[in-house]
Amino acid sequence: MQQIDYIKEIAKYGLENDQEKLLFTLNELIEHSKQTKKVNFALQLQSILKDAIRQQQTNGIVKLGSPKHILREEDREVSEFILEKLTSDYRFPNLVCSEAVHSELAYFIEEHRSIELLRQYDLPISNKVLFYGPSGCGKTLAAYVLAGELEKMMIVINLGAIVSSKLGETSKNLAKIFRRAATEDCIVFMDEFDTLGKVRDYSQDHGEMKRVVNTILQLFDYLPQGSIVIAATNQKDMIDEALLRRFDLAVELHLPDQSHIQELVKKTLADSPFSFDNRENSQRIISNSVGLSYYTIQKALLTAIKRSLFLQQGKVKKSIKIQTSVWAELIEQERKVLLEAN
Ligand SMILES: Nc1ncnc2c1ncn2[C@@H]1O[C@H](COP(=O)(O)OP(=O)(O)O)[C@@H](O)[C@H]1O
Ligand SMILES: [Mg+2]
Repeated sequence: MQQIDYIKEIAKYGLENDQEKLLFTLNELIEHSKQTKKVNFALQLQSILKDAIRQQQTNGIVKLGSPKHILREEDREVSEFILEKLTSDYRFPNLVCSEAVHSELAYFIEEHRSIELLRQYDLPISNKVLFYGPSGCGKTLAAYVLAGELEKMMIVINLGAIVSSKLGETSKNLAKIFRRAATEDCIVFMDEFDTLGKVRDYSQDHGEMKRVVNTILQLFDYLPQGSIVIAATNQKDMIDEALLRRFDLAVELHLPDQSHIQELVKKTLADSPFSFDNRENSQRIISNSVGLSYYTIQKALLTAIKRSLFLQQGKVKKSIKIQTSVWAELIEQERKVLLEAN
């Protein structure tokens, strides 16, 4: 073999993660280099190899190809399906919602704090939650609140990457990620759950969607009780009936009413130097905002704050007045957008 052949093999085994063959070939190349009088090159390769082995040992890997090593490779296998892994600081006070929603979430949290008690009486523990409702009303936020209150790590799944046009592949990908989640005491969060419906468009085979639904049902059944799955969607009607029924808890998040908007505004301005230049105007805007989402209302308010700040720059003050006229105009624009969409 020539040097170029060794390099091709090394590239191949490296990409295939075949440590054993990679090391074997690398050692052969070192020998070959010594024989062909490329001693310097041989020594450099040798030192790269030694460094790598030393580093793996300090990482706690006793031996190349040990179980720990294999675990790392599995990680790589699922990493493309994970958007992020996070811990959340969000708590109940961050979420504005109705009493009914609040109490549903509070009971869910209590169940997970009382797992031991429930187990003593052989009672099932709810661990599959669906949040649904219009966009910008706190579905993602509610998932973060659960993660924060329960102090569990959350794995945010990239459903876009999981859904594949290849037959059978979507199911396989889902199984991989759930298998992984089952080994960790964590929350699996599938945001935009309706993305799974894309399987219908991708696949000519009508059985494929059924296969995906069945896979999820099975994965749900084998989910350890300490693990939690949260799904969120603003298109509940896109989701298979059988799948909907399997959630322990389906919580609808609504558009805010006037009192919710009031609360959102209060929370947004709490502990800030910002206050309204006119209280009556602010009340009128709040009642005009009914029909818009929490997200839209808050975004308009933050924009108004920034613009007011620019206008008042240069003047020294401890409290900064939010120009209600600016906020009113932004809300008016959003209402128009909404009207045009409907
Ligand atoms: N119910 C709510 N209470 C407080 N803030 C909210 C609420 N809903 C939305 N928001 C604000 O809007 C942002 C986006 O909301 P998000 O949870 O992503 O909505 P959804 O997932 O329903 O589309 C949140 O980070 C938060 O700042
Ligand atoms: Mg969301």
